[in-house]
Amino acid sequence: MAHSSGPSLDNVIPADFMHKRSGVRYRIYRDSGRVWLSFERKGENPIHGQRELLYYIGSGRRGLTYLFVEDGFVFESPINWYGDRQLWDMTPAYQDASEIPLNLPAHTSCLHCHVSGMKPPVNGTENRYEMPLLTHSGVSCERCHGPGAGHMKGAAIVNPAKLPPDRRDAICMQCHMEGRVSIERAGKHIYDFRPGDSLSNYIHC
Ligand code: HEC
Ligand code: HEC
Ligand code: HEC
Repeated sequence: MAHSSGPSLDNVIPADFMHKRSGVRYRIYRDSGRVWLSFERKGENPIHGQRELLYYIGSGRRGLTYLFVEDGFVFESPINWYGDRQLWDMTPAYQDASEIPLNLPAHTSCLHCHVSGMKPPVNGTENRYEMPLLTHSGVSCERCHGPGAGHMKGAAIVNPAKLPPDRRDAICMQCHMEGRVSIERAGKHIYDFRPGDSLSNYIHC
């Protein structure tokens, strides 16, 4: 779980794929010590551009996506890595896109299970954050062991395995919840999500 998020350079899965419907070729690559998403369409409505990818979400075992930032607003990459199929494809929400969707906001509700120590979005926005967005990678010790302050003073840390079952399970259930999509059907949430819908209808909790 320490690898559930982090700086994009720590987890680069190169992409070079053509989305047939929109005729857009997407690439993800490393250049000059940074990670980039580029998009390019030739022909009648040519368009091209690139975005720097700052963070990854998902270790890649089952799936992975990247985040980029524009004017402090954080967005998800329009393409996802699908670990089960070992390929890049459009983000579930954008399978039928005919343009280049660069406006999928990265909500707190989406990030809080994958990231620790996140700041809330800037007042009045849903996806504008102070940078750096991630103060450390992945899920931190404290999400399962409680605040470290007592430990620093020599107190024993909370050992989840020694808690009563309901308190123990509550720790994991912060992020691994039973619900519309159980954790056995891992990753299903990201296949179901459509833009404009409330995330809570889709995520596996
Ligand atoms: C309630 C907590 C929770 C929320 C909210 C959540 N996820 Fe997840 N996500 C998980 C857990 C736990 C896993 C790993 C176990 C699983 O696959 O069910 C996971 C797996 C993933 C993976 C695959 C990672 C891998 O390789 O194992 C990706 C990618 C992902 N989530 C992205 C997202 C995105 C994007 C959002 C927002 C739309 C989101 N998640 C919202 C908890 C959450
Ligand atoms: C996803 C939840 C989770 C995270 C994150 C996590 N741990 Fe744990 N940790 C556990 C569980 C559960 C146990 C109990 C394992 C057992 O006893 O079977 C444990 C046990 C321990 C123990 C042994 C405690 C004892 O009383 O013997 C130490 C030390 C520890 N973890 C340190 C860390 C540190 C340091 C980090 C961060 C780098 C960390 N853990 C992150 C869940 C977690
Ligand atoms: C802060 C959120 C969070 C908490 C709390 C948490 N997990 Fe996770 N867990 C995740 C995320 C996110 C992933 C997916 C990591 C990835 O592959 O990107 C994951 C992955 C896993 C996996 C691997 C699942 C798979 O099939 O890939 C196991 C097993 C797991 N967690 C068990 C636990 C247990 C047991 C606890 C409680 C002691 C716990 N987790 C608490 C967020 C959390």
